Amino acid sequence: MKASDTIIVVLAAGKGTRMRSELAKVLHQAGGRPLVEHVVLACQPLKPAQLLVVVGHQAEEVGKLVTELGAQTVVQQPQRGTGHAVQVARRAMRKSAKLAVVLPGDAPLLRAETLAQLIDTHRRGEAAATILSAEMSDPSEYGRIVRDSEGRVQAIVEEEAATPEQRAIHEVNSSIYCFTLEKLWPCLNALRPENAQRELYLTDAIAVLRQKNERVLAQVASDANEIMGCNTRAHLAEADRVFRARKAAELMDAGVTIYLPETVVIDPDVEAGPDTLIEPHVQLLGETRLGARCTVRTGSVLRDMRLDDDAVVGVHCVMEASRIGSHATVGPFSRLRPGADIRANAHVGNFVEVKKSVIHEGAKANHLTYIGDASVGRGSNIGAGTITCNYDGAAKHPTTIGEGVFIGSDTALVAPIRVGDHAYVAAGSTLTDNVPADALAIARGRQVNKLGWAKQRRAELKRAGEGKKPKRQKARAGRKRVKRAAAPRRGSKGRRR
Ligand code: UD1
Ligand code: CA
Repeated sequence: MKASDTIIVVLAAGKGTRMRSELAKVLHQAGGRPLVEHVVLACQPLKPAQLLVVVGHQAEEVGKLVTELGAQTVVQQPQRGTGHAVQVARRAMRKSAKLAVVLPGDAPLLRAETLAQLIDTHRRGEAAATILSAEMSDPSEYGRIVRDSEGRVQAIVEEEAATPEQRAIHEVNSSIYCFTLEKLWPCLNALRPENAQRELYLTDAIAVLRQKNERVLAQVASDANEIMGCNTRAHLAEADRVFRARKAAELMDAGVTIYLPETVVIDPDVEAGPDTLIEPHVQLLGETRLGARCTVRTGSVLRDMRLDDDAVVGVHCVMEASRIGSHATVGPFSRLRPGADIRANAHVGNFVEVKKSVIHEGAKANHLTYIGDASVGRGSNIGAGTITCNYDGAAKHPTTIGEGVFIGSDTALVAPIRVGDHAYVAAGSTLTDNVPADALAIARGRQVNKLGWAKQRRAELKRAGEGKKPKRQKARAGRKRVKRAAAPRRGSKGRRR
């Protein structure tokens, strides 16, 4: 696709009052991206001579986003309607341009192919304007396409101005058009703000063109979803649902099994290899890449993750910016914070948190553990309840555990610290010094058994209990006092009921 005489103008200056938000409408997200980003991405494959975005409300934020995507901005201040927005865009347009595709920043589901078809229809039909329309089962809130008895487009009538007969029309305006610029400009000058919003409506240009006997075409979109404009939170949710369904379908086509695809949330840039299994209620976000034959079980949320082939993520894990090696298993109920590197065949189990640490091949940390700023050598075993004490209140320190080490349960490793290869650490130790290779470290109070102590205590309690009656009465009297204080309140409550 290339269109060297064609300019694309995205209208994105409006506030979006119906969204009831501080945030400009086009910055709201659906399908893992801001609405206007989807629109700009759909325009890029057409390689237009110029890609202009009209910004106004939160111009700086919207402008930053779209310029990063290679678009150019023009500011519309104040916003006097869609017709006014195109007038403003004219100032920034290259004089060589013959055609302009105009589209709204709130129609995120539009595809590049549909835009290309629209331009094609426009050129072939030698039209002054070509409207992308759609048949909507519920046309409310959209402008209606009014045709004459021969089916020629006469006008676009906004819902607020439509007669009952016009409201019954199901063919709606998408707000996506292709214009021949030399025909459009005189019509824009003729626009008047004589409508409910007191704005200059681009839609009114269609009737003006027809009065001048210019050719106006309407091409009906094959998929009405594509033209959906997101004015409200409900529209946003609907667009998001369509995006997620599209993405799940794309992965299923590529050989990924997804059960209950309507429950999974997968961002657009996510990749997954064949025979990977995604269970219900999984979220795969950001730049997550899954290899072949991976499993992600129900309820897990993965952001910017890399999983090598055959990796397994159990039920209800939360992980980000980390890597899981081939045949390694993580979860259920594990947390990987940025920089966790779980190598091949390693196991990270329930209620284990790993941050900025390497768990080398075949190492295991299966229960209730925190591993931060650490390296755990090949085949080492980290007992339940082990903690790397990596933070001293001011700075983070590393823990290095060698190969084939056995760390007993409930060990605290006060970093910086090293445990040599094949060493043992006794359960319950608090280690503050390095452990040499092949050593056994024990760092805990020595156990003392006081023989007969418990029996003696029981006897003492019994004796005390016999002489205790006055004490108990005292306690009860205390409770009574509380009761008396509370009684009136309770009574009054009762009366109210
Ligand atoms: C518009 C169309 C309607 C169509 C619908 C399709 C008009 C008058 N109506 O209505 O026929 O069925 O889209 O979704 O055009 N904008 C500006 N500057 C402005 C006003 C708006 O840049 O001064 C931008 C908005 O940010 C938005 C787009 O233009 O991205 C469309 O505006 P919006 O208010 O959403 O128009 P609709 O009421 O949806
Ligand atoms: Ca809209």
